[in-house]
Amino acid sequence: MDFRRLVDQELKDRRVFIRADLNVPLDDTGAIADDTRIRASVPGIQFCLRAGAAVMVTSHLGRPKEGELRPQDSLAPVAHRLGELLGREARLVRDWIDGNFTVNAGHVVVLENCRVNPGEKANDEGLARRMAQLCDVYVNDAFGTAHRAEATTEGMARFALVACAGPLLCAELDALGKAIEAPRRPLVAIVAGSKVSTKLTILESLAHKVDQLIVGGGIANTFLLAEGVAIGASLAEPDLVEEARTIIKAMRERGAAVPLPVDVVVAADLSPSAVARTVPVAEVGSDDRILDFGPRTMAELGAMIAGAGTIVWNGPIGVFEHEAFAGGTRALAAAIAASSAFSIAGGGDTLAAIAKFGITDRVGYISTGGGAFLEFLEGRELPAVAALRARA
Ligand code: 3PG
Repeated sequence: MDFRRLVDQELKDRRVFIRADLNVPLDDTGAIADDTRIRASVPGIQFCLRAGAAVMVTSHLGRPKEGELRPQDSLAPVAHRLGELLGREARLVRDWIDGNFTVNAGHVVVLENCRVNPGEKANDEGLARRMAQLCDVYVNDAFGTAHRAEATTEGMARFALVACAGPLLCAELDALGKAIEAPRRPLVAIVAGSKVSTKLTILESLAHKVDQLIVGGGIANTFLLAEGVAIGASLAEPDLVEEARTIIKAMRERGAAVPLPVDVVVAADLSPSAVARTVPVAEVGSDDRILDFGPRTMAELGAMIAGAGTIVWNGPIGVFEHEAFAGGTRALAAAIAASSAFSIAGGGDTLAAIAKFGITDRVGYISTGGGAFLEFLEGRELPAVAALRARA
């Protein structure tokens, strides 16, 4: 890869600043609901500690208002969990921009939520320069935030003495590059989730790259509408029907298709008392909401997945959090787990589904990125990576 890597740097007694993506989901009590991103950041931090560096780690958490640190925006629970995983103290430093804190070689501190600093989001040059002065080596190991040009992700890479990529960022780019740049064919993509609008550009881009484009969730409803199928009271985006038609046409012109469900699981709503029924797609009633794909559809999609050389997965097929509508996503997870294809998966809901259905060890690569994962697959240059390249 055409940028410097952390593993090649001289780190002994150097001040190392790691921009990680420790933006983890928190539950209603403020506890960490899933620590995948913290665990994924540990190897880069460990590497620096073992090499004898004085390590500073920061991340954003959520989307706080700049200049104001509310308790729920604090990295305190993240620092605590990181300390547990490292087996040593990871002290949290609150006001750190001016460097009024100490960290000795072989130790690590967590610098409080970087998005609270005024100028972070806007990639303010003055802020980036000040932060760059805190370190001898700047490490970007935040793949999940690589699609954001912010002061800690892009600006610092331009001004730090040395700017390099951490092991997580390298591994993500390697795995995703392998899947999209030189895939073993057929390349099958599954793009699901609630809305076409949030994934329209990725669908358009994949329609020119993949051999099969499977859509699921609310996205599939909009595609059903585009094909003139009645979807009752299901969630859909009628104003995007033309875009869905264009994607179907692009796939047909390549001799492929966007396979649509032949049977679906419907209910009047998502309440615990709602009765779920599996019906042929032509029999969806005017009050029905499509909340999952049925077993016949999943058998067809399963056969497609079984024949794949490479699989890219983003988004659940149905409302898998409710058992009545989990069958489609469960069957998809089982098909991916059983496949001999190289599979990659990314996105918060997808990671939750992988954990729920216990297939973590049978997915080729699980990305820590959500938006960054999609933008990379679209073929867009990630600003944080571009900045590292420019320095190499
Ligand atoms: C993510 O959760 O996808 C990343 O941490 C980026 O967060 P953001 O969308 O708030 O920039």
